[in-house]
Amino acid sequence: MDSPSQISVLETAWQWWTYAATYEGYFAATRRLLGVLWEFARDSTPDRLRARFGDAEYDWDYRVNTTSGAVGWRDRLLGMFHSAYQPTEPAAFHEMIGAVQQGLDSGREVLGFRDFTFIDLGSGKGRTLLMASDYPFRRIVGVELLPSLHKIALQNLRQYKSESQKCFALESICADATEFPLPEDPLVIFLFNPFPESGMRKVISNLEQSLRAHPRPVYVLYHNPMLEHTLSERGPLKKIAGTHQYSLFAKQFR
Ligand SMILES: C[S@@+](CC[C@H](N)C(=O)[O-])C[C@H]1O[C@@H](n2cnc3c(N)ncnc32)[C@H](O)[C@@H]1O
Repeated sequence: MDSPSQISVLETAWQWWTYAATYEGYFAATRRLLGVLWEFARDSTPDRLRARFGDAEYDWDYRVNTTSGAVGWRDRLLGMFHSAYQPTEPAAFHEMIGAVQQGLDSGREVLGFRDFTFIDLGSGKGRTLLMASDYPFRRIVGVELLPSLHKIALQNLRQYKSESQKCFALESICADATEFPLPEDPLVIFLFNPFPESGMRKVISNLEQSLRAHPRPVYVLYHNPMLEHTLSERGPLKKIAGTHQYSLFAKQFR
């Protein structure tokens, strides 16, 4: 999976339009497509390009490339049809993992991070994978749709060095996360708005099937939870914590 083929911009735009047209009609879908292209053009102005490098402090600290500033036009355009790449801020990430730790403590799980696989669905350049390695997870997996972001993630995994690193079993996989078979371990699933509603529903249904086949504790950390209702309205997960920045859902075992 190290050299996955490029994703076609035209094909992606066509699929996006066909899907939108099915639900909204040709006219509304075309108007929305023009809106997306307009937003892309606005997003390509020098001011906006410069502003995106505001997230690069982490890269200076660890000599990696996870900034959204250094993403080419092709991937930015593809991001308009899936979800734009944006890395998670370190402080927010550690706060979210702290909530999982509290969940483990309050649920009196006999398990700890050591028993869990951390999986980021829509992992981009892999910043969360690096940050998660500060915790003693059993394994850390990222699943990213865009081959070029995945390639950079692989480079970052090779280059990263930190004295606080506790997990060394890190991998990035290039695949569609909505079709990805979830590992059968206890899981901490990380989502930073990677999918539209249809993708979220697919992932939740995969998770339900996986939990029926292999019952186990699962935590879902949903960063910037714009489609939180898709998780709360069905399925075996209950919301156990959250702020305006994230929601934590869990299926715990007592
Ligand atoms: C907002 S970024 C989050 C990046 C990373 N999780 C983080 O928090 O630093 C969302 C990522 O999801 C990816 N993505 C979108 N749809 C996807 C899919 N179906 N499968 C895998 N990745 C996807 C995008 O390419 C993008 O890199």
